[in-house]
Amino acid sequence: MFVPRTAVWEITMACNMRCKHCGSSCSKPLDNELTTAEALSLCDQLADLGLKRITLSGGEPTTRGDWLNIAERLIQNGITTSIITNGWSMSQEMVSNIKNVGLKSVAISLDGVKETHDSIRKVGSFEKSMNLISMLVEAGITVSAITTINKQNLDELDALFNILAQKGVYSWQLQFALPMGNFKNHIDKMIAPEDIKSIIDFAYSKIEKEPMIVLADCLGYYSKNSIQITERFLQDKWSWTGCGAGKSVIGILCDGSIVGCTSIRDRKLVAGNIRNQSLRSIWGNPDSFRWNREFSNKQLKGFCKECQYSEICKGGCSNSRYCLTGSFESENKYCSYNASYYSLKTLLRSFNKESQFTNLLERADGNSDFNKLISDEYRRFTARDSHVSE
Ligand SMILES: C[S@@+](CC[C@H](N)C(=O)[O-])C[C@H]1O[C@@H](n2cnc3c(N)ncnc32)[C@H](O)[C@@H]1O
Ligand code: SF4
Ligand code: SF4
Repeated sequence: MFVPRTAVWEITMACNMRCKHCGSSCSKPLDNELTTAEALSLCDQLADLGLKRITLSGGEPTTRGDWLNIAERLIQNGITTSIITNGWSMSQEMVSNIKNVGLKSVAISLDGVKETHDSIRKVGSFEKSMNLISMLVEAGITVSAITTINKQNLDELDALFNILAQKGVYSWQLQFALPMGNFKNHIDKMIAPEDIKSIIDFAYSKIEKEPMIVLADCLGYYSKNSIQITERFLQDKWSWTGCGAGKSVIGILCDGSIVGCTSIRDRKLVAGNIRNQSLRSIWGNPDSFRWNREFSNKQLKGFCKECQYSEICKGGCSNSRYCLTGSFESENKYCSYNASYYSLKTLLRSFNKESQFTNLLERADGNSDFNKLISDEYRRFTARDSHVSE
């Protein structure tokens, strides 16, 4: 029995920016976006299903004239509601309204220091985001920031941390830009799997400082440091137990289509539409979200298939795998553990003396995946040598 606990709802595809990395290439509202009445009914249906937390996103959610009514209805229904905004059209009046409807937290996207942020998003937008953070902090609203990392801002994390710390931001979510929408045209800016470790190491170096760093689902899963970063944020024991899309997480598109995750929006993966069916019947349908509800680690390929954590991890973020390769079954090259495995393999393949292997085996720390790799590569090395001498 699956119960949706958290949701992301893209309430509109309209946007007042044209970001270079925008995964959904937002610009104008779609013709068939939910009406206010349909959206409010959905707020009630979400509460009825037991939803605890929701994030309003888009598009730019604040471009929808009734977004505060939607937020208010969700809050009245006991659902903890937050919003992700680019901050462009926020005013002091809007901040007062946010407070009045009872919205407790706002997340603002920040994609670099001034020059970088403005070049990715819109000239003047960095300044607006900074002002919005100040207004929200002043009003006692919890502020989070979200940075979508690409090669352009990868080296700016420390500078961004200092800016956010100085502004009194509560938490800072790090994620990396995936090749979706507009970002497909800037693929040269996509970070490499090896960069994941440096992002996690950076986050770990700030583990005792504010703002608290949050790793999005695309970053992690079984590195000691990433687990500790998440545990620090949650103030509780934690481990990644697989993608929650369609199991504990629900995604809602602006036309009422129901998906497991708003980033995984292929028409063939849409479970239904609230215009034709109740949300409860879509969620309860055994055919809904089978791609994830029935996903087994045995379907995974590459190192994810053999990895000691695969039964519980199931390859990390489904969207990362799907959007990078078009298949849920592919291995997750952007997993920190997977990346360490392949760097070790590259190192082993560069060895040309037997002693290099034995030294490494003597120092191996008991990690079964890595020990096996060293033994396999050692066997391969000795077999190659015996072949050469024949
Ligand atoms: C789609 S936006 C919607 C909310 C709002 N318009 C904004 O930009 O903050 C939500 C978040 O997704 C991030 N995002 C956009 N395109 C992405 C991509 N290709 N990969 C990963 N994250 C992306 C944005 O930077 C933003 O932080
Ligand atoms: S990332 Fe957000 S602000 Fe940028 S174009 Fe997409 S929806 Fe608009
Ligand atoms: S290698 Fe794959 S299965 Fe193993 S921890 Fe990483 S994502 Fe999970």
